[in-house]
Amino acid sequence: MNILVTGGAGYIGSHTAVELLEDGYEIVLLDNFSNSKPEVVNRIKSITGKDFKSYKVDLLDKQRLEKVFEENPIDAVIHFAGFKAVGESVANPIKYYKNNVVGTLILCETMNRYNVKKMVFSSSATVYGMNNTSPLTEDMPLSTNNPYGSTKMMIEMILNDLSYSDRDWRLSILRYFNPIGAHESGLIGEDPNGEPNNLMPYITQVAVGIRDKLTIFGNDYPTHDGTGVRDYIHVVDLAKGHAKALKKILEKQGTDVFNLGTGIGYSVMELIRYFEEANEINIPVTLSGRRPGDVAVCYADPDKAARILDWRAEKDIYDMCRDSWRWQSKNPEGYK
Ligand code: NAD
Ligand code: UD1
Repeated sequence: MNILVTGGAGYIGSHTAVELLEDGYEIVLLDNFSNSKPEVVNRIKSITGKDFKSYKVDLLDKQRLEKVFEENPIDAVIHFAGFKAVGESVANPIKYYKNNVVGTLILCETMNRYNVKKMVFSSSATVYGMNNTSPLTEDMPLSTNNPYGSTKMMIEMILNDLSYSDRDWRLSILRYFNPIGAHESGLIGEDPNGEPNNLMPYITQVAVGIRDKLTIFGNDYPTHDGTGVRDYIHVVDLAKGHAKALKKILEKQGTDVFNLGTGIGYSVMELIRYFEEANEINIPVTLSGRRPGDVAVCYADPDKAARILDWRAEKDIYDMCRDSWRWQSKNPEGYK
């Protein structure tokens, strides 16, 4: 089985590539390295001891994408490639719609041409918007409040229409909650460009001394300690969820959507405390107002993935904190 992994050098793609190789799949990795480094490919090979082809290709480049399909008998695609910074998407929406939506359309068109009709897609809990109450279930109404989120919602609609128009398409849409952690080897992990937007990479950069202190965005939310609550999930559990979703579409017809989360919510203060405890490091903090667009509480009902995909997150918050720190401390400047 040959699986094309778009965005395979990215944070979640690289961990999924490792899982797939360890499960015995062959992979073809595609990335334009706009938000990752080619070194990731060597790290995946050194963790797994397996070789695979990798292409520096942009999804928007039809000709070069087609060449990848021409040169490799692809059975299914796991599609991670896309931009993901919420703030940047507000400042530059065209960049986001073009890369995420047009990139996915070109990919689907090419897949159709080569009769490859199985895809696992990276969606996000952001599609649940501001108006649903956690635990979030897959059947809740969707809405978004930024262009990044809108690209995910639009792509979900496109994929649903595609599977309705042609029942040969098998699609697994995965809505991730908040991936953190890293492979236990400490060889691959999250390597954000510039100042991190997300909480855990900010914490680890404070811990390693790149930043002075963490700013907590709001302590007046209606939560037990006033700080925002999220469903943090270990990236290796998330990667295993992709392997389960892939298995499902390889074996059975149909298109479906799944939450990939733990079902447990931790506040910002709690995550900081667990990180400090797990790693015996003090994280200096300061308080500021709420970040625009943030919800108070967001966590998954992960039951559907458990029932249908036979997948459940296994790693706990200490594993997440320890593995995030192992990656950061072994690679203080990321892949540089
Ligand atoms: P990432 O930026 O680390 O990985 C994405 C990869 O795609 C990068 O390596 C980038 O270089 C590549 N890429 C981007 N545009 C491309 C293009 N046009 N052609 C080829 N390659 C391209 O991000 P990630 O955290 O690994 O996220 C993977 C996917 O999951 C993204 O679609 C993201 O929106 C989605 N997602 C991520 C999170 C999260 O918190 N990390 C949460 C929900 C959903
Ligand atoms: C962010 C994105 C969301 C995306 C998700 C997963 C925004 C507005 N939303 O959500 O679209 O799907 O990541 O990638 O960017 N926090 C701090 N200080 C910090 C950073 C974060 O207090 O320096 C707080 C936030 O207010 C929030 C929690 O930590 O309460 C988690 O934040 P973050 O890691 O950015 O994830 P999300 O807000 O869930």
